[in-house]
Amino acid sequence: MATSEIWQKKGKDRDSILKTLEEHHRRDSDWHSGKTWSLVYHASDEHTEFLKKAYSIYFHQNALNPNAFPSLKSYEADILAACAELFHGPQAAGTMTSGGSESIMMAVKTYRDWARATKPEITEPEIIFPVSVHPAFDKAAHYFSVKPVWVPVGPDFKVDPGEVEKRITSNTIAIVGSAPQYPQGVIDPIDELAALASRRGIGMHVDACLGGFLLPFLKKLGHDIPAFDFSVPGVTSISADLHKYGFAAKGASVVLYRDKDLRRFQFFVSTEWPGGAFASPSMTGTRPAGSIAAAWATFQAFGEEGYLRLAEEIMSNTRRLQDGIRKVGLEIVGQPIASVFAFTSSQLDIYAVADQMQLRGWFIDRQQKPNALHLMVTPAHTPIVDQFLKDLEEAVTTVRSMPSLSNEGYAALYGMMAQIPDRSQISKFLYQFMDERYERQPQGEGFP
Ligand SMILES: Cc1ncc(COP(=O)(O)O)c(C=O)c1O
Repeated sequence: MATSEIWQKKGKDRDSILKTLEEHHRRDSDWHSGKTWSLVYHASDEHTEFLKKAYSIYFHQNALNPNAFPSLKSYEADILAACAELFHGPQAAGTMTSGGSESIMMAVKTYRDWARATKPEITEPEIIFPVSVHPAFDKAAHYFSVKPVWVPVGPDFKVDPGEVEKRITSNTIAIVGSAPQYPQGVIDPIDELAALASRRGIGMHVDACLGGFLLPFLKKLGHDIPAFDFSVPGVTSISADLHKYGFAAKGASVVLYRDKDLRRFQFFVSTEWPGGAFASPSMTGTRPAGSIAAAWATFQAFGEEGYLRLAEEIMSNTRRLQDGIRKVGLEIVGQPIASVFAFTSSQLDIYAVADQMQLRGWFIDRQQKPNALHLMVTPAHTPIVDQFLKDLEEAVTTVRSMPSLSNEGYAALYGMMAQIPDRSQISKFLYQFMDERYERQPQGEGFP
């Protein structure tokens, strides 16, 4: 243990440790000033303080066993009933999970086990995924031994139902669409995909992890939002993240099925364990109670009116940003439905623009196919839209006058990665990146 400063003979003073944490935290990306465009969903300081209090009341409890903590059982049931109503599923039944990826994993496992029980002739189940779905679907297919069948998206970045139909085989158990998808923020033609699924007697999952708690309120505000939920015949399940645009604490999502019968295939029970008969609704064993309590508290605090106000603020920021981005000569990719979108340039190296923005303190995700920068807009961005656009104008002017910037910094790295035809090299690089992620830095180093 001598090499580690963590396992010392004597513990340290807790106040000084907390000070160290605060100091390190301050040196991370400044999400609070709206400098990040993903990862953090901040409604207001007041709401964040409220979330922390709600979470900490349930800090030590465990939602694994509903009998020990009946209050948690009722919060979860309340949240699921509220979601069923929001998504127009009078019979809808689901569970809470720790996040979008777990909700997606549960849906994939549910369709696999449903097919095992109802279509025993299928020994090698397949699910059809547009290439734009979140990688959690690929991960789930990998974990649960389901074959992913990929469908390209069209020039509008939406999947073409005709292309999906061509890929349906006697092994297909479900189709997936997103509302909206992450890369360009566009919504797949859910009604047509669901009709197809219904005709073929297979499942249709809608990934509304991003849109679940935004699109219904935008629709109420008069935006043109196509139906994406259980009101569409043939939609059999939905994932929606409370910890994204639901503005709950991290570790909260829901997965809902059209009815209880389908949900049954999500559950896991074990009868012979000497520790007692065991039943678990989702992937995790211990389930943090704080995120359930905080999600319940969030619904109570905002009500419909609060979510409508948030949606209005988010869309007003989005419009200002998109107008400003176009004004400096950059292009919005596709036709994003809400507040998640990408922008690019047909003239400049957009990755070099990202580098310039990074020098000015902005943390922006870079993406590929096409090369673009990605923004997910929240109320945290309200005070900084003008500053962002001013910096973007400067960044664009700099890159325009110095095209050689494409050969430097991250621009060079991302540019090179995009050009490597052998994608296994990229995989190798990513595996190495994961190993390095867990290498210890000497204390005090590894911080910017
Ligand atoms: C469309 C979509 N689905 C699923 C996820 C996965 O959510 P999580 O990061 O909570 O696992 C994300 C995350 O950004 C997403 O954008």
